[in-house]
Amino acid sequence: MQDTRHVDIEQRTNYQRLHQDIGTFFHNPDTESWLSREQMGALCQEISDKITALDPVTILECINAPRQMDEGLQRHSLNVAFLNGIQAGWLELDRSRVKKFILAGLLHDVGKTMIPEEIVNAPRRLTTQEMDVMRMHPVYSDGLLRDKFDDEIRSAARHHHEKLNGKGYPDGIAEKDIGLCARVTAISDIYDAMVSARSYKSSRLPLHVLNMFYAGAFEGLDRKLVLSFVKNMRLKYTDRQVVMSDGTRAAIRYIPVNDAVHPIVQQGADIRQTDEEWYCRGMAVEALFMDS
Ligand SMILES: [Fe+2]
Repeated sequence: MQDTRHVDIEQRTNYQRLHQDIGTFFHNPDTESWLSREQMGALCQEISDKITALDPVTILECINAPRQMDEGLQRHSLNVAFLNGIQAGWLELDRSRVKKFILAGLLHDVGKTMIPEEIVNAPRRLTTQEMDVMRMHPVYSDGLLRDKFDDEIRSAARHHHEKLNGKGYPDGIAEKDIGLCARVTAISDIYDAMVSARSYKSSRLPLHVLNMFYAGAFEGLDRKLVLSFVKNMRLKYTDRQVVMSDGTRAAIRYIPVNDAVHPIVQQGADIRQTDEEWYCRGMAVEALFMDS
């Protein structure tokens, strides 16, 4: 369940309405809104504007919020759209390309709407057979986007689970056959999956997830993109106010590249590294709005 802190930040950033809109576009195949290019384009513009207007850490705080199972797809789609847009900005891509990456994030998992809900929202690990069904979703996404969206968006949807070593799915392609948008979407997808709470696993703190990326816990990703992602995330979190495990506040002063879970923080004149006993519990949300 979401706590009031997250509900508040989602209302203030309009994040709640955005993910409800996505639900409407995804789940009403008989209406004109169904994957409408115009409506998706407008949504994409709104997301792009938010990325410019808000501090990325504010957006990340919405992304990091615990979510209900049944709103998993729309929240995940919105989060991947935001993360794709943020990453595309860090890669200094031009504005039209940034929007394309956002759109790819919004649409990458739309094929899941064709998979039985009891599999998509299963509150447990999937069986092998269910996993085979689930692994068809990139193919369905590609099919649903045909004739409506361009090749880069479609190939990101089809290839966001491919791996550079050829061990991914659905096509088992490798290296140069996997485009930039698919590589970026793969990172956004994993980040969001790792920070989200599923009923069979608990969510992880963003700093912990950054640690896993740096340590190479997820095979087949583009290492250069991963390192750029971790570096930029560390910069964004530096100097941010955090809530410590004892309920006090501190400011992050340095995030070690190979040990992001234990940042060096400052409380008054006291500067020290966090550890297993005294650790960051989360961001201090109010502080995020001072410059947004
Ligand atoms: Fe996916």
